[in-house]
Amino acid sequence: MKIIKPTLSEIIDIQTILKPYVDEGIILYRDEDEIATNIRSYVIAYDEHIPVGVAALHIFSPFLGEIRSLAVSKDYQGKGIGKKIINSLLKEAKNIGLKEVLVLTYQKEFFEKMGFREIPKESIPDKKIWADCIKCKFFPNCNEIALIISL
Ligand SMILES: CC(C)(COP(=O)(O)OP(=O)(O)OC[C@H]1O[C@@H](n2cnc3c(N)ncnc32)[C@H](O)[C@@H]1OP(=O)(O)O)[C@@H](O)C(=O)NCCC(=O)NCCS
Repeated sequence: MKIIKPTLSEIIDIQTILKPYVDEGIILYRDEDEIATNIRSYVIAYDEHIPVGVAALHIFSPFLGEIRSLAVSKDYQGKGIGKKIINSLLKEAKNIGLKEVLVLTYQKEFFEKMGFREIPKESIPDKKIWADCIKCKFFPNCNEIALIISL
């Protein structure tokens, strides 16, 4: 299993991993252009040549980043791939100089295992709400939990 920084030709792999969770409404749909714009924020996990996991580190401010679009293909869950992806993005976040990383998720226990702690949703930056949440079919009745980690 290896984690790579994708090129634009790997957008299709990102979309393939995310599709089942986008269809379930767990992960926000992002079109090809939005993924391309943010391609440098993504990592993909490959098992041999099979894309099995993805996530992105979005930068909000000189201090705050956000984990976005984390997904591991169903057949590959429970093998430590999610953990490796998060650790890789947290390392990148620290290296670039971020102080904290946020996530909005239904996977509270998973992120607590990774060292994140729950915070009130009121402390999420407004620009996150207006840029992203407003696009979600569950807005404004969202049951996601906000968690943060200090680096
Ligand atoms: C959440 C998700 C990424 C976890 O990936 P994974 O590869 O299955 O997780 P890992 O195998 O790396 O698990 C790491 C640790 O978290 C634990 N864990 C994983 N999923 C968990 C869950 N849902 N609840 C509690 N603990 C969980 C594992 O037991 C493991 O613990 P350990 O280190 O003590 O052995 C994966 O379940 C997924 O893709 N879910 C659907 C999409 C989703 O909800 N994404 C989150 C959007 S923010």
